[in-house]
Amino acid sequence: MLLLGIETSCDETAAAVIRDWTVLSNVLKTQTVHEEFGGVVPEIASREHLRLLPGIVREALDVAGVSVEDLDGIAYTRGPGLAGPLLVGASFARALAMDAQKPLWGANHLEGHLAAVRLSDPTLKPPFLCLTVSGGHTELTEVTKDGAFVSMGNTRDDAAGEAFDKCGKILGLGYPAGPLVSNLAKTGNRKAFALPIGLRGDGLDFSFSGLKSALSRLLQELGHETVALRKNDLCASLESVIVEALVGKAMEALRERNLPGIAVCGGVSANRHLRERMGAAATKQGAWARFPSPDLCTDNGAMIAGAAMWRLERNDLEPLRKGVDPGLELG
Ligand code: KG4
Ligand code: ZN
Repeated sequence: MLLLGIETSCDETAAAVIRDWTVLSNVLKTQTVHEEFGGVVPEIASREHLRLLPGIVREALDVAGVSVEDLDGIAYTRGPGLAGPLLVGASFARALAMDAQKPLWGANHLEGHLAAVRLSDPTLKPPFLCLTVSGGHTELTEVTKDGAFVSMGNTRDDAAGEAFDKCGKILGLGYPAGPLVSNLAKTGNRKAFALPIGLRGDGLDFSFSGLKSALSRLLQELGHETVALRKNDLCASLESVIVEALVGKAMEALRERNLPGIAVCGGVSANRHLRERMGAAATKQGAWARFPSPDLCTDNGAMIAGAAMWRLERNDLEPLRKGVDPGLELG
């Protein structure tokens, strides 16, 4: 099955072609116009998607060596995401599908992040535990043997990616701060500063909002000069507590449902320390841990085509209904 996937839920304009579980092309442009605002401005993002999408889709088809006529269908992101950006992708996909008389499917962005793990390793098969960690989500979900999603834990406030971004901002780093924090952390001491792990030992929900206040207080105590000198230690300590919170709850969930392994997905799954710690903890527990290949961690079109493919395989078409839904949840 040959599918085109279009992703426009936030600030990545992306399109890709997949054939079954093989990625033939994966083209994306991260919009940089938002940097000066320290976060994504929805109206600007919509306009940028409108400007960039035709060229990105053209390139995705060209790199894959296929034409619109060859496609078996077109998938776009139905939600969750920003309403305006979602509408641009949906309208573009609809026009393309109508013109070429191809089937059109609206896919769930969160299922897409999980599909990215299967695109990276087509042997991935339920049951397993899924940890979705992105800028807007931090969620533990059981994927049952028959493919149903059962929510086990969620963040009560900020998402893990949001915690990286907001704490990074306090540290004077750019946006998105996740990769920047991670880069500085490489040469830092993870035990240099004690920061809190929210809701430790208290069920499977997460809480990251306390981290911002704790970090602000710590920076005030240290003073500008020390903060500037010890940024690597601060980033390493910060990264460490976010990762320990994720790994701790994930291992608890694995034990609770006796699941064989965990698929970690979403933008934060690119984090190297998270990969190492999760991998080691899972192995210690006799379980496996899998991640998307690095190029499929960020929002991309291949994962959207993959999400549609997964539903189509099971003939489960209702979740692929059209329109947009900014508040769509997993499952
Ligand atoms: O999934 P994604 O691309 O977009 C959303 O759907 O939110 O995730 C973006 C998030 C941002 O918060 C970014 O800071 C974080 O993923 N991120 C990272 C890393 N790469 C991206 N966080 C920590 N370490 C990284 N290497
Ligand atoms: Zn995402």
